[in-house]
Amino acid sequence: MSGPLEGRRVVLGVTGGIAAYKAIDVCRRLVDAGAHVVPIMTEAAQHFVGTTTLGALASEPVQTELWRNPTTPIPHTVVGQGADLILVAPATAKLLSAYRTGFSHDLLTNTLLATRAPVVVCPAMHTEMWEHPSVVDNVAVLRERGVHVVDPESGRLAGGDVGAGRLADPSVIVAEVERVLGPGDLDGTTVVVTAGGTREPIDAVRVIANRSSGKQGYAVAAEAAARGAHVVLVSTVELAAPVGVEVVAVETAEEMRDAVTQRRATSDVVVMAAAVADFRPVAAAGGKIKKDDGVPEIVLEATPDILRGLGEDKPDGQVLVGFAAETDDLRANALAKLTRKNLDLIVANDVGAPHVGFSHDTNAVTLLRPDADPVEIDLASKREIARAVINTIVEIRAASRTGEL
Ligand code: C5P
Repeated sequence: MSGPLEGRRVVLGVTGGIAAYKAIDVCRRLVDAGAHVVPIMTEAAQHFVGTTTLGALASEPVQTELWRNPTTPIPHTVVGQGADLILVAPATAKLLSAYRTGFSHDLLTNTLLATRAPVVVCPAMHTEMWEHPSVVDNVAVLRERGVHVVDPESGRLAGGDVGAGRLADPSVIVAEVERVLGPGDLDGTTVVVTAGGTREPIDAVRVIANRSSGKQGYAVAAEAAARGAHVVLVSTVELAAPVGVEVVAVETAEEMRDAVTQRRATSDVVVMAAAVADFRPVAAAGGKIKKDDGVPEIVLEATPDILRGLGEDKPDGQVLVGFAAETDDLRANALAKLTRKNLDLIVANDVGAPHVGFSHDTNAVTLLRPDADPVEIDLASKREIARAVINTIVEIRAASRTGEL
């Protein structure tokens, strides 16, 4: 279950801006994700960061020279031809201009011209430069040619200035590289994912909650976005939003149902990873229930079963996915839910097992479908589990298109 960067050759070009120091972090993340990182630094970049630092973290020594290159007599074509992707982070105004016009004056610009691999550029510069018509024009032309541009953020810049032009966060840059190198098998789709445990109010301060951390739902959302989907994440928790994902904050089962129902007709896939409360107090007290008034009697009623409602009226071709957290008879209970709720896939996890389920960073699940053999996924990170879930969703979509289901 390897990720999209595993074994891929990524050329990391670093140009001369203060943000060059962040390229070190980008490099480390790419290597951690399994990429073979070939680093190139321009002359100016070396004023900001040493080749020793970047070289120590990359997969091979930093190349800087068009001439007298120790690894090959023709570095200007060899590096670009062998790349699966070229990433330039940070990209200065000078680099963008040279790349736009084809002015190949050093190893990096030559490499950019001598490749057919996808290119991701991450501009970083002062606001005045970023907004200058010549830079705006260069960026627009590069985009038109299919170059992937990761826009800079607004924030603190060198010298204490504040404004647009700060290099995008390394996590955003790496997510874009993953997306570009990924299979794109959810391109053009809309995926709704729910995450976290709902909170049902007892009074103004107390709630009925559960142990769900939301981590598995967030991982599913991140993976769906990396595969090209437009993802809406309906969440009760405040984890860092995955890159490119629209987060809708909710608290109760009813709010979650409304948020999901609103989007159901336009969703290709709905993944209900949230732990929705099954019961809620019939009426929440307006203020705080006083201890001195004695032990209160709280009358409960059933919450709406969101997934069942979705399953009863499923649009053609929509893939509906549920989660089943069980402590006993995992498969039998999950299969019963699969049928009862008219699902295409249920992800069953034995929350009683060690390192599995709520709040852990790892999980182990069984994937159950109506007309396919169960698939067991052994203990793995929640992102890897998410990858297996999305792979199965893609399979279900492909099978339904070819009429196999
Ligand atoms: O039947 P059970 O609640 O165990 O089923 C779990 C699945 O149903 C999960 O995918 C959960 O998100 C969903 N669910 C729901 N609405 C509820 C309760 C659970 O959508 N009220």
